[in-house]
Order: sequence, then structure tokens, then C-alpha cells
Amino acid sequence: GAAVEVDIASLKPGEKTTVEWRGKPVWIMRRTPEQLETLKKTDSEVADPNSLRTAFPTPEYAKNETRSIKPEVLVVVGICTHLGCSPGDKFTPGAQPSLPDDWQGGFFCACHGSTFDLAGRVFKNKPAPDNLEVPPHMYLADNKLLIG
Ligand code: FES
Repeated sequence: GAAVEVDIASLKPGEKTTVEWRGKPVWIMRRTPEQLETLKKTDSEVADPNSLRTAFPTPEYAKNETRSIKPEVLVVVGICTHLGCSPGDKFTPGAQPSLPDDWQGGFFCACHGSTFDLAGRVFKNKPAPDNLEVPPHMYLADNKLLIG
């Protein structure tokens, strides 16, 4: 499939956009400093903090806490690694029975209850076998991404 070029200059901190790549939704999110801070708290709660699992292998350049090339910019395939549902955005902490008590924000798959943090890392004891997939990507310029 063809690679997709995306200009993210207008993507504001805290915003997420979706582009299509090879028929899949790819999420691009510009995380705020506060949102990046939450990843330190979820490190101990996620199943694979360093993205070492291989069901959906993470590219070398995203095998880090933020799972990204630039810390603030998350690029992941928005498809649950369990059975392919589309997780929803749950960016704000708040009471919801199926979310962890100290929910820091992230993504929630309503199909079977998998939760992911703001780096797309799956929480422990969830059916999803792996973190959200990071598609191959690179920067052509400061705000220009090439996905694929
Ligand atoms: Fe997402 Fe099953 S498809 S938890």
C-alpha cells in the first residue's frame, strides 16, 4: 500500500486526528506535557512497558516509554490488538466502572474491556495480547509525517 503523508502543523496539544493507511485508522495525537507525565505512573501497571512483545512488533525507534520518535507525537494504529475493535478515547480521569481506579487517560476498548494508556500500552490482565501497533513512520520535516 501507498505511504501516506500527513501535515500535523495544526494539531494542537491534547488533540488527536485519524488518517487512513492501508485501510486502517492511524491515530496521531499530540500529547501535552501533563499527558506525557502520566506515562511514568502507568509504567508499572502496563503489561509490556518497553514494548518487547512481538505479536504487533514495535519499530526500534518507538521502543521507549512514549512509544514515539518525538516524545509528544503518538502514532498508532487505532485497532485493538485483541479482536480488532476500535478503542474509544478516554482522555480524562473520571468514574467509569471498567477503568482502573487511578485512570490517567488513554484508550478503552468496549468490546472486552482492554484499556491502553496514552502511549497505547495495554494494561495488565486485559485480553489484548499486545500494545497498540505503531506503524512504520518517519518525519519528512518538523511537522510532516510519512506513514508506511
Ligand atoms: Fe478490544 Fe477484545 S477487541 S478487548
